[in-house]
Amino acid sequence: MIRICPSILNANFDDLPNEIQRVAAQADLLHLDVMDNVFVPNFTFDLEKSLEIINQSALPVDVHLMIANPDSEAIKFVAANTASITVHFEACHNPQQTLRDIKHKGVRAGLAVKPNTPIEAVEELLPDIDMILVMTVEPGFGGQKFMTEMMPKVEKARSWLRDKGFNDKWIQVDGGISLETIRTAYQAGADTFVAGSAVYRAENPGEMIELLRQEALS
Ligand code: DX5
Ligand code: ZN
Repeated sequence: MIRICPSILNANFDDLPNEIQRVAAQADLLHLDVMDNVFVPNFTFDLEKSLEIINQSALPVDVHLMIANPDSEAIKFVAANTASITVHFEACHNPQQTLRDIKHKGVRAGLAVKPNTPIEAVEELLPDIDMILVMTVEPGFGGQKFMTEMMPKVEKARSWLRDKGFNDKWIQVDGGISLETIRTAYQAGADTFVAGSAVYRAENPGEMIELLRQEALS
């Protein structure tokens, strides 16, 4: 079982309800990239706009917080359609407490690591993590090249989950996922895939999601 999560970072921001509708039948989750121009050098949506998108979404939403103070901000993104909230290890002062706060709201808790952060950072937090996000680009922008050199991190995370019997935790990859790269990430052990430009630059975004799914499992 794999999950494909289209990122609307490369969608038309002026017509988001329709852009979400174009992937609603094929996608598993909608990936919402929240950037504050502090943690990353780019800005996308503030809290108010994020909640508006979440509330309008025809799909459950996977919120990826690239913001400086996730400890106090994360649970503000909880709404009826919020399926998961992922915070960055590098931005958290108390990642364990923040993950627990998210889970207490009935939402899956994700922990993300940037390319330069060793995967060992998440190991002792595993009991409180529902999803490990291994960034396969430097966070901040869509359309970047997939970093194959992150695959050993995915492999290590997969071996921990297997060895510790954590069968309901997910491993997500985000950045540069396309028909050329998804199989590599799947074979390394990822089961949840964010795809931004691959989906929204395709003529038929819904069909591209199905192609990505087939390619991963091929
Ligand atoms: C990057 C974002 C990604 C981005 C992925 O900081 O977290 O979700 O939208 O876009 P692509 O698939 O184009 O790399
Ligand atoms: Zn993302």
